[in-house]
Amino acid sequence: MERKISVIGGGNVGASCAQYMAEANLGDVMIVDIVEGMPQGKALDLTQAGPIRGYNCKIEGTNNYKDIKGSDLVIMTAGLARKPGMSREDLLNMNANIVKIAATNIKKYAPKAYVIVVSNPLDIMTYHMFKITGFPTNRVLGQAGVLDSTRFRAFVAMELGMAPTDVQAMVLGGHGDTMVPLPNYSTVGGVPIKELIPAKRLKEICERTRFGGGEIVKLLKTGSAYYAPAAASVQMARAILLDEKKVLPCSAYLTGQYGLKDIYIGVPAVLGAKGVEKIIELKLNASETKELKASAAKYKGVLKEIGY
Ligand code: LAC
Repeated sequence: MERKISVIGGGNVGASCAQYMAEANLGDVMIVDIVEGMPQGKALDLTQAGPIRGYNCKIEGTNNYKDIKGSDLVIMTAGLARKPGMSREDLLNMNANIVKIAATNIKKYAPKAYVIVVSNPLDIMTYHMFKITGFPTNRVLGQAGVLDSTRFRAFVAMELGMAPTDVQAMVLGGHGDTMVPLPNYSTVGGVPIKELIPAKRLKEICERTRFGGGEIVKLLKTGSAYYAPAAASVQMARAILLDEKKVLPCSAYLTGQYGLKDIYIGVPAVLGAKGVEKIIELKLNASETKELKASAAKYKGVLKEIGY
């Protein structure tokens, strides 16, 4: 196919990304992992599902970064996942090293690629990817807001017994316990959710959203979520590759928007052929602003821990 997408990391998130990517017929897929045989095995398995699932793209696996050569888009999923009791920030040093290696190779072999970062702690790893590749900020972005808001959407749909696809929701801030769900910007078929769900219950749903990743870690016991994170990443990739101009919350580089500078954090952005084409500044009330600032302050602190 004309387009090439590389997925760094062949674990659960990476393999699910490759699957959704193939099913969306977005281009050929290269899965990279350090474990010998694993990305090749998963790629072959996915290839063999193609005749049934209806995709014709090439899916390959490799242990060698040079095979990402010429990628249009790279999804960075490699890194350790959380175990019960861990925060995403507990993964900081290990994953910073893994991102550094990947970023160096992306810069070398795929210098024109758009890069979507999924490795945690998300907003920090996205900043790290941006710094090491030196790519322009419109080409480096983090997947988080789409995941956090799809969780919010699913919970609202479960609460109301209404179609999940009809629920639109917005979640800002860092991809962690400080994220800021925005019921004021969330609707079902255009109806504000505040008119459909009592305030106390809505607050509980926002809390569940905030800890949505942790809820799954606790259930799985051996790792973290992957279907929804992969679906979110592929939605972002598709918006870029097909120039969809979709408005999606994602971790984007701010240069003064929302009063924040030199940081990657979750905000609504327009994604199209130029990557992050525009950041949308929502009008926030005092408590939403306070929460977003607190989230940013926390991540500024974490950035310092890895030398920024
Ligand atoms: C989650 C992880 C992937 O939120 O960050 O499930």
